[in-house]
Amino acid sequence: MDLGLSGKVVIVTGGASNLGRAITLGFAHEGARVVIADIDDAQSKKVEKEAPSGTITARHTDVTDWKSVTSMVEYVKSAMGDIDILVNCAGWTIDRLFLEKPRSEWEREIAIDLWGFINSVRAVLDTMVERRYGRIVSIGSDAGRMGEWREAVYSGTKASVIAMSKAIAREVGKYGITLNVVCPGLIPGSPQTTGTESMWSGDQATKFTPDVLEKAAKAYPLRRVGTPEDVVPAVLLLASDRASYITGQTLSVSGGYTMI
Ligand SMILES: NC(=O)c1ccc[n+]([C@@H]2O[C@H](COP(=O)([O-])OP(=O)(O)OC[C@H]3O[C@@H](n4cnc5c(N)ncnc54)[C@H](O)[C@@H]3O)[C@@H](O)[C@H]2O)c1
Repeated sequence: MDLGLSGKVVIVTGGASNLGRAITLGFAHEGARVVIADIDDAQSKKVEKEAPSGTITARHTDVTDWKSVTSMVEYVKSAMGDIDILVNCAGWTIDRLFLEKPRSEWEREIAIDLWGFINSVRAVLDTMVERRYGRIVSIGSDAGRMGEWREAVYSGTKASVIAMSKAIAREVGKYGITLNVVCPGLIPGSPQTTGTESMWSGDQATKFTPDVLEKAAKAYPLRRVGTPEDVVPAVLLLASDRASYITGQTLSVSGGYTMI
């Protein structure tokens, strides 16, 4: 099926690492022009070079900072034209029991996972409303559907992404704009495909040993944890005009981990 993504202008926040990288490359493979909006310039440049020249553009963006996000959106509009698609993929968490987690980590989760979504969606909506066209796909999490152990505040931010996507979808559907959410389960990062700002560098990486991952896989009906490439087809479909009659929906791509 041709998804008709060739030539589309796409912004992928957090597009440099792990899932974001796979999504960026997935759009590039379909012939779209992709902007990586990420804080990790070195990793963004690496991904930029993984596709034919001119297909992927790295633009330093901090999604927690409204000025940084609006400046990126203005840049994309002036350099590449109308923005067709926004993928909200920037995110961060670290697994820790609620009772043991320092406030600084909650604040970072809320800033990136919640404010990052609000800033990025709000920043592209004026131009999408004006054009009467837009596709917004956000990477949620099964944590936001079920409330995951050791991910209390993160679960809350992802539940908010799901609820806000539905609420905004009701308001902007009349302008031909859709918002949908794709919810992965566990998808560990690898040193080859993650950057220094990735949640898979540092502490978190050392927790998910092969032994832990093998045990985790048993909770998945398909008996494996995910790969970044697993989420790409769902994101591409929901970002395409093949999905023009789908909005406000939440799709888990998680080997059956949740079945809601
Ligand atoms: N990997 C998983 O197991 C998993 C599971 C469910 C949901 N998710 C969600 O998928 C998304 C991607 O996860 P991942 O595993 O690829 O994470 P990752 O940490 O490897 O990549 C996140 C990217 O976001 C960037 N980033 C961080 N803060 C930013 C900011 N303020 N502004 C702009 N960019 C910023 C990082 O530099 C990095 O490139 C996240 O939203 C995450 O919550 C991941």
